[in-house]
Amino acid sequence: MSDLDVFVSDRHVGSLREDIATGLIDFEYLPDISDDLAASLLMPPSAPADEYREYNGLPPPFEVSLPEGVVLEAIQSRFGKHIDVSSDFALLRLVGRHTVGRVTFGGPLERDAGLDQQILAAARTDGAAARLSAILRNSPQMFGISGVMPKMSVYSRDRLRPGTVVSHGAIVKFDSPNYTGASLVEYACLKACAAVGLDVPAVELAPDLTSIVIDRFDIATNGRRLGFEDACALSGIRRAGKYTGSIEHLFQMIGNFVHPDDQDADRRALLKLSIMNDVLRNGDAHLKNFGLVYDDVMRPRLAPVFDVLTTPVWIHGDTPALAILKNDRESGRWMDTQGLQHLASVDGLPDVDLKQMQEDCADATLQSLAETLASCPPCPQRKALERAIEIIESAAPRQGSGQSVGNGQAWAPSM
Ligand SMILES: Nc1ncnc2c1ncn2[C@@H]1O[C@H](COP(=O)(O)OP(=O)(O)OP(=O)(O)O)[C@@H](O)[C@H]1O
Ligand SMILES: [Mg+2]
Repeated sequence: MSDLDVFVSDRHVGSLREDIATGLIDFEYLPDISDDLAASLLMPPSAPADEYREYNGLPPPFEVSLPEGVVLEAIQSRFGKHIDVSSDFALLRLVGRHTVGRVTFGGPLERDAGLDQQILAAARTDGAAARLSAILRNSPQMFGISGVMPKMSVYSRDRLRPGTVVSHGAIVKFDSPNYTGASLVEYACLKACAAVGLDVPAVELAPDLTSIVIDRFDIATNGRRLGFEDACALSGIRRAGKYTGSIEHLFQMIGNFVHPDDQDADRRALLKLSIMNDVLRNGDAHLKNFGLVYDDVMRPRLAPVFDVLTTPVWIHGDTPALAILKNDRESGRWMDTQGLQHLASVDGLPDVDLKQMQEDCADATLQSLAETLASCPPCPQRKALERAIEIIESAAPRQGSGQSVGNGQAWAPSM
């Protein structure tokens, strides 16, 4: 048997136990843990203990912060001799005290203030990506964070004077050699999402355009860590299945977990984000790129926008990551009239004209991207943004080019 303690907001709430012989994993809450200290919205402490037994792998909510991509490769090369990096349980034991959100594993949150300062300083200097890459290769175990692109998380608490603590958390993402300009294009895409009125954390671009620093939405200004769970986990889907879901799953996540009073606002935000992912030709808007954030388990809200990128800049001919409908596994097409009709059938917002929204978003996006481009000096990163703008421009719907599409409209089903 192998054990790993689970903490919520630095409180020990339970333990994971892996049966080495069978590979099955049990989770057990300690006695008398109240529901507000749930380790996941899917796992209330008040449910019968049997519900959290014999998982074939980690419970999906505990996969949210498992490293992937570049961070995982760095762990493999630094620790591959000492731990079995292919074991999620071993990986969680390694990075579990440095996760995103309020759940940690093996102990309360542990930060290294010196390392965090080093990361932020590197992100604000010329040669940002190369400096950040060296830091990541040296200390990959400090980042319990998912996603394929290179990134690190920081969390600082500054005591200004007795009694006043100011907290700041950031995710620092940076270019890798195969994705030159990804940071700049992501910065421009985030700015475009803000321009259409979506909730986007503050984002700062490195002086040499090779890195971005994004405010963490899972840390309140008073330093309180908030729960964050991605839509993959909340749909009960293992992380390997992040492309198997649909936009319908995302609306269902809101229907299942968001308080009725907040649902309309979150549905509107998700609808606009779905349209923006299309306008921006973001081919990587999979289930792990959406989620809910909460302080109170009774009032989770759609997380602010993160991870929007014009992927065809690097992946020629890239297509959408998710199907629109659960039972129509056909992804692969950008949002045509039928796509908008499918979207209208799952968004629960009868008053919205999606065609109009698509046109308005495209206009505002192109304007915002042009503003970002205007502030960039000539460099390889700028070329990536120019390419993104070409792709988005040639895909943009023309104003007034089609009939309106909304839940209230009748349309002929395609045969
Ligand atoms: N602003 C933020 N605040 C809090 N957590 C964040 C923020 N941005 C990203 N994260 C966390 O980091 C994870 C990975 O981030 P992100 O999706 O941006 O990375 P990525 O490498 O581009 O992902 P992908 O593999 O989808 O390309 C998110 O799922 C979330 O847990
Ligand atoms: Mg992502």
